[in-house]
Amino acid sequence: MRILITGGTGFIGRNLCKELLRVGHQLTVLSRKPETVPEKCGVEVSALGSLEEWTPELHFDAVINLAGEPIVGSRWSERRKRILWDSRITLTERLVDAIRKAKSKPRVLISGSAVGVYGNQGDTILDENSAPVPNGFGQKLCQAWEDVALQARECGVRVCLLRTGLVIGKNGGFLQKMLLPFKLGLGARLGNGKQWMSWVHIKDHIAMTQYLLGSHALDGPFNLTAPEPVTNEEFTQSLARILKRPALLSVPAWFLRLSAGEMAELMLGSQRALPKRFQNEHFKFSYKTLGSALWDALFASRDANIS
Ligand SMILES: NC(=O)c1ccc[n+]([C@@H]2O[C@H](COP(=O)([O-])OP(=O)(O)OC[C@H]3O[C@@H](n4cnc5c(N)ncnc54)[C@H](OP(=O)(O)O)[C@@H]3O)[C@@H](O)[C@H]2O)c1
Repeated sequence: MRILITGGTGFIGRNLCKELLRVGHQLTVLSRKPETVPEKCGVEVSALGSLEEWTPELHFDAVINLAGEPIVGSRWSERRKRILWDSRITLTERLVDAIRKAKSKPRVLISGSAVGVYGNQGDTILDENSAPVPNGFGQKLCQAWEDVALQARECGVRVCLLRTGLVIGKNGGFLQKMLLPFKLGLGARLGNGKQWMSWVHIKDHIAMTQYLLGSHALDGPFNLTAPEPVTNEEFTQSLARILKRPALLSVPAWFLRLSAGEMAELMLGSQRALPKRFQNEHFKFSYKTLGSALWDALFASRDANIS
């Protein structure tokens, strides 16, 4: 297949490119720095520097849309919210517009989202039929991202939405950011630690994306999460145990809200999402338990897995 990938230079994108190349697909990556694409994604990968370069004559069989300014970072000022919004919603609007103009349309658009689309739902078990609860900027961002992508259906394109949990893998993602304090024995529960964290190993995430690429009938939202979400307390203790360090501290919710502002919703919000639609497909997860996923990401040799 000829596949266009936005965000292909990122943590998920680079790993996805490696696997898609391995199975013989032809890839083009849209990047703000197209000159870095061969090094990050593979020498055989073509690059587009802007969507204007997608002329109506250019044909892609599939589009995978992962681009987005990192959601965790500096505080969500109005300016930063604008960047987060434009890098996902405005870019996806342009992508759908390019699909509309293409003489020969892609068969499928696989577009990013996150379990944050459900909002803060406490202990409620969430599957793809669960109704999102409006809850702050992060939820609104995911909802708008999905709504825009779904517009591609009007051109007869199958649209799959990746409601992704926290992705665990080597050399990137949220785990990388958490490692230093945990290694120093400063790992801490966030708030009361009862909020649910839905996670997924990068290898399963990529396999699920490939599954959607290859299926002709599946569309709509999919939870890209492992079948066993954990609470923040369990996550904290599992990571500390595997690193053989203590995690006796906790960061109070009020302190997170004070220091991170609105962004604290990412750390304190609870999504207990199950990959129901993939379970119905009898999808075989390589990493069902958090312990096995963490162990692989932290200790397995690089050659034994996708890096
Ligand atoms: N990793 C996770 O745990 C996780 C969980 C849930 C959802 N997601 C979503 O999945 C997507 C991919 O995640 P990731 O971890 O691979 O992200 P990442 O490593 O931060 O990569 C995102 C890519 O998006 C592009 N990008 C960044 N800022 C941009 C901006 N301001 N305007 C346009 N493009 C921009 C970059 O490509 P160029 O620099 O080449 O332009 C970058 O390589 C993201 O949209 C993220 O929100 C990730």
